[in-house]
Amino acid sequence: MFNIVIADDYDLVSREAFKIMRNTVAKENPVLGLATGSSPIGLYKKMIADHNSNGTSYKNVITFNLDEYIGIERNHEQSYYTFMHENLFDSIDIPETSIHIPHGDCGDMEAECARYEEELKKVVIDLQVLGIGTDGHIGFNEPGTPFDSLTHITPLEEQTRKDNARFFEDDISRVPTHAITMGLASIMRAKKIIVIATGANKANAVYGMVKGPKTPDCPASILQDHDDVTVILDHEAASRIA
Ligand code: GLP
Repeated sequence: MFNIVIADDYDLVSREAFKIMRNTVAKENPVLGLATGSSPIGLYKKMIADHNSNGTSYKNVITFNLDEYIGIERNHEQSYYTFMHENLFDSIDIPETSIHIPHGDCGDMEAECARYEEELKKVVIDLQVLGIGTDGHIGFNEPGTPFDSLTHITPLEEQTRKDNARFFEDDISRVPTHAITMGLASIMRAKKIIVIATGANKANAVYGMVKGPKTPDCPASILQDHDDVTVILDHEAASRIA
């Protein structure tokens, strides 16, 4: 069941997402599922501003990130580990030991998938934040990923690597070819999910997620089976469903 919220601009989209985040963070020992990409950056800025001005604490918060590139080091400037520290973790009071991000730079990636899934099984994510890829991916679950997938290694689609080349000096050859990602079944265990999408280039993916057939061709369409998903959009991203 989707609750669709359409806001006028990116700041208002981020504000809507923050309202939901604030309620979750106010709980006793909240577990957050976090995403990278440009879509949640406004939300993370609001979390930092709220931490700074209202003293909202993240000392008891546990986080799990969706995914990580394979083949670049943890401290690479484009790793999702670096992204999360620069855009959120370094500016709030979350203990480093409460942060979980899959490793993309270890020798045995199959073992890392199993380890991460085991860690995930110990918790229930209270709020999962998602963006959506232009091809309908969530996390790095590319089209064709089975709905029952758990944490796994995935090749990245050409389209995804093109979309992300902007972070690698516009040079697609620098964009990693593989990633480790929470699976679709792992994501679906979250109690509550928010999807943030803005811009006309997301309109088709948003349509596929909300109105399209439920099919692995559009991985986000699995969310049609979840009973608590809020999709927060600007008018451009909502243009095919409004
Ligand atoms: C990336 C991430 C996703 C993200 C998506 C959209 O490749 N793996 O988690 O949601 O693509 O990114 P953006 O928000 O920058 O459009």
